[in-house]
Amino acid sequence: MTNTTHFGYQTVPEEDKVHKVAEVFHSVAAKYDIMNDFMSAGLHRVWKAFTIAQAGVRPGFKVLDIAGGTGDLSKAFARQAGPTGEVWLTDINESMLRVGRDRLLNKGTPTPTLLCDAEKLPFPDNYFDRVSVAFGLRNMTHKDVALSEMRRVLKPGGKLLVLEFSKVWEPLKKPYDVYSFSVLPWLGKKIANDAESYRYLAESIRMHPDQETLKKMMEDAGLERVQYHNLTAGVAALHTGIKL
Ligand SMILES: C[S@@+](CC[C@H](N)C(=O)[O-])C[C@H]1O[C@@H](n2cnc3c(N)ncnc32)[C@H](O)[C@@H]1O
Repeated sequence: MTNTTHFGYQTVPEEDKVHKVAEVFHSVAAKYDIMNDFMSAGLHRVWKAFTIAQAGVRPGFKVLDIAGGTGDLSKAFARQAGPTGEVWLTDINESMLRVGRDRLLNKGTPTPTLLCDAEKLPFPDNYFDRVSVAFGLRNMTHKDVALSEMRRVLKPGGKLLVLEFSKVWEPLKKPYDVYSFSVLPWLGKKIANDAESYRYLAESIRMHPDQETLKKMMEDAGLERVQYHNLTAGVAALHTGIKL
């Protein structure tokens, strides 16, 4: 029997999801950064700044940025880890990674860049001081496998940071739905000539586990002291956990 999963609101065979997600990110890569600023009115920068502060990267740290895309987190981590550190920008999607790699080169913060699937990380056990994934987990087919992999590559005492869209505070749900299902696809059409990818974005956010469910998933993957911070009334949340 074929196992199925969600791609936005559609139910699809598990093996199809990775290809559908790939199509979305090949399509949006060139306009990804400008769309992020438009869609969130710049808020994604605040959420990432909070994540970077919570990561507390110090000189010499080894950091893995999973689903790093166009490299916002990697860029900050590379500056903090300095020349004695090691920051890897990784993603499953070549188009996104190419934009990220070029951007980091242009900013004078070149980092090793690697095409890889979060569900099969090509790194040894107990290697990284920090592992981050920003707005990536939602797109993964087997989130439990990916979270276990993230824990595996962390050193004992290392920290995982998961920044993701989450469940918004109930009184804001109606206006947020109107924004997500009307304004977002319209912006996607106008700016990136791609309404579909931004409809997927809105749907995939609704299908993603809420704050408490994701906390439990991280605990089930073996992470400890798991906690979360709601950002902008739960539009996004930062979950952190430690490998002991
Ligand atoms: C919304 S973008 C986030 C990019 C960046 N982290 C940021 O916050 O701006 C989501 C990224 O997740 C990547 N992705 C999806 N599934 C993945 C997987 N299984 N392994 C690694 N990356 C994945 C996509 O290719 C895409 O670049």
